Amino acid sequence: MQKEPSEFTMQNAYSAYAKLRTRRSCRSFTDKPIDDALLQEIILTGLSAPTGGNLQPFSLIVVKDAAKKAVLAEVCGQGFIAKAAANLVFVMDWHKLSAYTRAKKAPFVANRVLNHNIIAYADIICAAQLIEAAATMAGIGVCMVGNIMGSGERVGNLLKLPENTYPILMLSLGYPANITDKRAPKLPADVIVFEEEYPVFDEETLLAAYDKKYSGMIAPLPQDDAKREEMLAALRESYLTTYTAEETDMILSEIEAAGAMNEMQRRFGIHYGAAGMLKKQEAFFSDMARRNIIFGPTAERKE
Ligand SMILES: Cc1cc2nc3c(=O)[nH]c(=O)nc-3n(C[C@H](O)[C@H](O)[C@H](O)COP(=O)(O)O)c2cc1C
Repeated sequence: MQKEPSEFTMQNAYSAYAKLRTRRSCRSFTDKPIDDALLQEIILTGLSAPTGGNLQPFSLIVVKDAAKKAVLAEVCGQGFIAKAAANLVFVMDWHKLSAYTRAKKAPFVANRVLNHNIIAYADIICAAQLIEAAATMAGIGVCMVGNIMGSGERVGNLLKLPENTYPILMLSLGYPANITDKRAPKLPADVIVFEEEYPVFDEETLLAAYDKKYSGMIAPLPQDDAKREEMLAALRESYLTTYTAEETDMILSEIEAAGAMNEMQRRFGIHYGAAGMLKKQEAFFSDMARRNIIFGPTAERKE
């Protein structure tokens, strides 16, 4: 039962803050299902989130079916999704509003306008984060899955999504199973929160804060010669997006000499891969445009 806000004291608020600060992404779930009524409460809490222009341009598909979860896990390339009790697929949705505006004889172009699409995504993030918070309060683990982006066709077919919609974020929910890895460290508040104006950082302070966050995160190059060469070739492609050929050679020989990469080199050089990031962006625009959502610089529909 929902309590009246008047019953909510500051003491409750501080205990809620303490609980919320225990949050972390959960990628390991037990088989315990989430009670339907509880899941509904959690989702309804999320639906009270703020929404740009009060438009609520999204839908939420709750996926509990094992076969569908397996497809989502494969599409997103992350096995934990199949083990989650429920996956909530957030769909950017101009389908409903375009039908409503047409019924009301109003013009409608929001699906073709970048800032409206950004706001629609922001709406989704607001609701998703509120759901995460509500789930955390109930001891349920959550992982946001942005990896669902770029899979409009497969997810669209799987969930029977109509035109003018795009699956853009997913939340995997379940009861946490033996989480043993350490919490992801956050940057300290003083490099994020500023009083009245943006400060002039000395580079040393800035780098030290990031170094602390990513300390100990060193990725060794593969021992195997062929695999190492393959990785260096992938790194080279990534580096050439940002550095000259000469600089690239210099940095790569430093990496080779160290036999390892730091976290930024791994993340942007290999994990995302700077060259791949740029290529994927084009594919992403087209994937959205095929569903009639224009997130790119063009207002033309790509067939
Ligand atoms: C928009 C968004 C998308 C995310 N996508 C993924 C994802 O696809 N897969 C994943 O394992 N984690 C994903 N995460 C979780 C982040 O990796 C995680 O929040 C970050 O590493 C910090 O860890 P913490 O949440 O435990 O504090 C995503 C988080 C956000 C906010």
